[in-house]
Amino acid sequence: MRLSKSPTRVSINDVAVRDGFQSEPMFVPTEVKIRLIDRLSQSGLAKIEVTSFVSPRAIPNLRDAEEVMRGIARAADVIYVSLVPNERGCERALACGVGEINLVMSAGERHNLANMRMTCEQSLEQFRCVMAMIKGTGVRVNGTIATAFGCPFEGDQAPSKIMRTAARYLDMGMRSVTLADTTGMAAPLQVGELVQIFLQTFRGVPLTLHFHNTRGMGLANVIAAVDAGARSFDASLGGIGGCPFAPGATGNICTEDLVHMLELCGIDTGVDLDRLLAIAKDLPRILGHDVPGQVLKAGKRTDLHPHQASPQSV
Ligand code: COA
Ligand code: ZN
Repeated sequence: MRLSKSPTRVSINDVAVRDGFQSEPMFVPTEVKIRLIDRLSQSGLAKIEVTSFVSPRAIPNLRDAEEVMRGIARAADVIYVSLVPNERGCERALACGVGEINLVMSAGERHNLANMRMTCEQSLEQFRCVMAMIKGTGVRVNGTIATAFGCPFEGDQAPSKIMRTAARYLDMGMRSVTLADTTGMAAPLQVGELVQIFLQTFRGVPLTLHFHNTRGMGLANVIAAVDAGARSFDASLGGIGGCPFAPGATGNICTEDLVHMLELCGIDTGVDLDRLLAIAKDLPRILGHDVPGQVLKAGKRTDLHPHQASPQSV
């Protein structure tokens, strides 16, 4: 384990209101979303993925994207991100002043067809139009490669294929790349290898990792990624999330669990953990069900319990 050589700073993009809310059984009211984002804005996160400008028929829960984007109070040091699948989504995102557009396509053709109803070439064609539209606006563009660590329909995706896709993104002018593990298929050794290949192939290109904890490997994957040089992660408050078009998808790695672990590794995230936990505490009430986050339930490692000696104690 080489984490002692690791950075002192990692940045976090919270995706709960996008990846999380998109798959909830119920629509979260617009004003509740806005209030939650405003509280997250004060917690020290580098980025917040606010919503998706996608078809309201595909993702009904995010049909209020414009109202949310326009209703939030923006903090100067937070980048507000929106997922965009196509030209129409880009028009909508630009009209309400997003800070960053996150263009998403899957590495696996079959998941892209299920999720975006486009072949990968059709998605890339849309991205070319988006890049032309964005020119001169100053809006940042990140390109996400979904199913980068395995596709639920096709299985493993070759690292060479992932690098070719990343190269096409960067050739179009995107300035950063996210490798997403849409259905929690990534395992630590694989993560270390892919991160290393990426950072050697694209020196200086900002890389983000987007992990889901579907098979319990989420935080182990973070350690492997940090060890290989990664400095930026997506995570979701409460560990909610999941792609509605991928069978068996479950929540993202949990932001407060991630911050808690990184702090114990001596890695600063800039996030105020107590403030984040106070926000996460309200999620079960907002959503009407329990959430996967563990620190929320167990308390921080340093939270001790009053000890009451009883005759039975040993
Ligand atoms: N925003 C709003 N509406 C959009 C849109 C966008 N970005 N893109 C297309 N639409 C509308 C069209 O206007 C059309 O509306 P109409 O039927 O009322 O005329 C309808 O959606 C269908 O358009 P079409 O171009 O045929 O799209 P499609 O049905 O093939 O779907 C996507 C393509 C990309 C729009 C859709 O699959 C989608 O939004 N996917 C997002 C999935 C997602 O967010 N997954 C989770 C995150 S990874
Ligand atoms: Zn996701």
